[in-house]
Amino acid sequence: MSVIDTEDISTNPTSNTHFNEIAKVAASRRGFLKTGLGLGAVGFLSAGLVACGSDDDDPAPGNPGEPGPGPGEPEPTGPVMNFTAVPASSGDTIVVPPGYQSAVFCRWGDPLFPNSPAWKGDATDTAEAQALQFGDNHDGMHFFPLGDGTSSTEGLLVMNHEYFNAEYLFPTNVDAPGAPWTLEHVRKGQHAHGISVAHIRLNAGKWEVVIPSKYNRRLHMNSAFDITGPAAGHARMRTSEDPTGRRVFGTLNNCGNGYTMWGTYLTCEENFNGYFGTTSGSDSRDASKRRYGLSGTTSGYRWEVHDDRFDYVKEPNESNRFGWIVEIDPFDPTSTPKKRTALGRIKHENAAQTLAKDNRVVVYMGDDQANDYVYKFVSDGKYDPAPTAFAYAQNRNLLESGKLYVAKFEAGATQGDMMGTGRWILLDRATPTTTPGQTLGDLFATQADLLIDTRLAADAVGATPMDRPEWVTVHPETNEVYLTLTNNSGRTAEKVDDANPRASNSWGQIIRWREAGGDAGALTFEWDLFVLAGNPVAFADRSDLRSGSANVTADNTFNSPDGLAFDADGRLWIQTDGNFSNSGSYAGQGNNQMLIANPVTKEIRRFLVGPSGCEVTGITWTPDQKYVFVNIQHPGEYGSHPRRPDVQPWDDPLAFSQWPERSGGRPRSSTVVVWRTDGGKVGT
Ligand code: FEO
Ligand code: CA
Ligand code: CA
Repeated sequence: MSVIDTEDISTNPTSNTHFNEIAKVAASRRGFLKTGLGLGAVGFLSAGLVACGSDDDDPAPGNPGEPGPGPGEPEPTGPVMNFTAVPASSGDTIVVPPGYQSAVFCRWGDPLFPNSPAWKGDATDTAEAQALQFGDNHDGMHFFPLGDGTSSTEGLLVMNHEYFNAEYLFPTNVDAPGAPWTLEHVRKGQHAHGISVAHIRLNAGKWEVVIPSKYNRRLHMNSAFDITGPAAGHARMRTSEDPTGRRVFGTLNNCGNGYTMWGTYLTCEENFNGYFGTTSGSDSRDASKRRYGLSGTTSGYRWEVHDDRFDYVKEPNESNRFGWIVEIDPFDPTSTPKKRTALGRIKHENAAQTLAKDNRVVVYMGDDQANDYVYKFVSDGKYDPAPTAFAYAQNRNLLESGKLYVAKFEAGATQGDMMGTGRWILLDRATPTTTPGQTLGDLFATQADLLIDTRLAADAVGATPMDRPEWVTVHPETNEVYLTLTNNSGRTAEKVDDANPRASNSWGQIIRWREAGGDAGALTFEWDLFVLAGNPVAFADRSDLRSGSANVTADNTFNSPDGLAFDADGRLWIQTDGNFSNSGSYAGQGNNQMLIANPVTKEIRRFLVGPSGCEVTGITWTPDQKYVFVNIQHPGEYGSHPRRPDVQPWDDPLAFSQWPERSGGRPRSSTVVVWRTDGGKVGT
């Protein structure tokens, strides 16, 4: 998201150590420092794959996590990627490679139920209508196959609706001075948020939503959710509406997603802070509310004006009930989704699941704010693959309890080479803080208190502040973990480190790590940067880190990697949410886009470009990989373009998007499905 967007401003007041402050590590064995960070680092990144954090001078081996090729063995080449790259585009359209086609469905306002009112192009739909239609600002999503669980022609498409664009959701400009702002406005906005579960099928070559279907479901800010795990029932989770602290209405700012091996969907509550404020006129935020970035006055969404639970003076604990990972069973439309507090309370971007070697469930998560952290959860229980009702029931509780860790990325043997080692710090009351003689138990009375203030606990143990952690994904075979760090304009020269090597980072990077022994349950890892996004069009000198790493070229340049996912063959799909001005530092990059990378060769190729003003986010495939579903979020967003005060956005040619209708209507967030005309696998 980017309209009501504060993630690029750090709310982290701590001075947790950056690598260059931690230790002046051993002298370089590779001699990169002799040529300075820039040239040495770019040279390193151009050298094909280097084993993460390896300490020797061996030539580049093969896939990280595997030894290099032996004598006479061919270099590994990674997954097939033979499509023709598409050029950058600033057009108000979807661009896909030759031999591919795309189609739009599941648009904001489209029906899900037999009684869904038809969407009105002038945004006069009521709050009640919005609750029966697809929500706004599609984000993370997942395709759950129906049939025997392997169908590639029928399934449940579950998607997040992260927020709304007021300039398109309402028929008039509600932000104009003196404009009416009513409970009806608040409710419509609340209903534009949440989740859609859509039964979809391929019918005569066209994907469509099945209506009626017993599976179709809308969850929004007035749907009931259970609070489970260590923080459930805690005094700080109780409100006047819910004295139990175990039942909450709504989920909001649902950003990225995850899914589990037992067939549930994970939705991730991100910028919940933006919905809480106060009309009291006085700022009474405590340290926790400040750390999470709640407003001292009114909020951008202004829900607190008509809905008391969003006024933290009236309901001080309501905001503690947001910022969690939520587990939803899409196959049971009567089930109550569960907020899983064991996974911590942060601005959750997405959640990527894998298994430790002993079958404990591991979930990787990023906290999307400048200078915030990377986390992993390891379940207490073990995943049981047995096809029995008992195993199924056991698995469904695996996210109920476990250990939560935060990452420390260290420089490793060589400082300044964009690779190193790392460790996972347990967020538990027994863990020492960076203050000598103190443990987290001195700061938090219970694990529930610690989890409600996950950020404060992570601050205290010295986690590594990162360049805005976004999506994380796990390679399907090697178990290597990749994470987008989208950008961080606020990082200063004194605070650069190996993992976040640029001050005023406008373009972002993708970091990856390999856990010790290839075991996702390990407590140490080795890491390196997979790509340093940058712009060789704007900065021709390739020793300048602003030009990006060697796998960034004039043909694939992009900024602000955000969505990230491996397909089943190990192609890495990268989606962007960044500056689409196509000028200055962003010249030649065009609109937000989706690229595919080969994790072995590091080659990156542009696969899709979105329409004007959009973000490309959310991705899932049919099991046969013949169709990829991608969300186009907030087409027509102004971003850095000037907004004209005299013209409604939808009448402003400079608002520059009427996608997807192209009939003079408002732009609409939508799902796009892309396929190969010859029926082959996408991305090959
Ligand atoms: Fe909702 Fe960090 O993007
Ligand atoms: Ca290093
Ligand atoms: Ca995102």
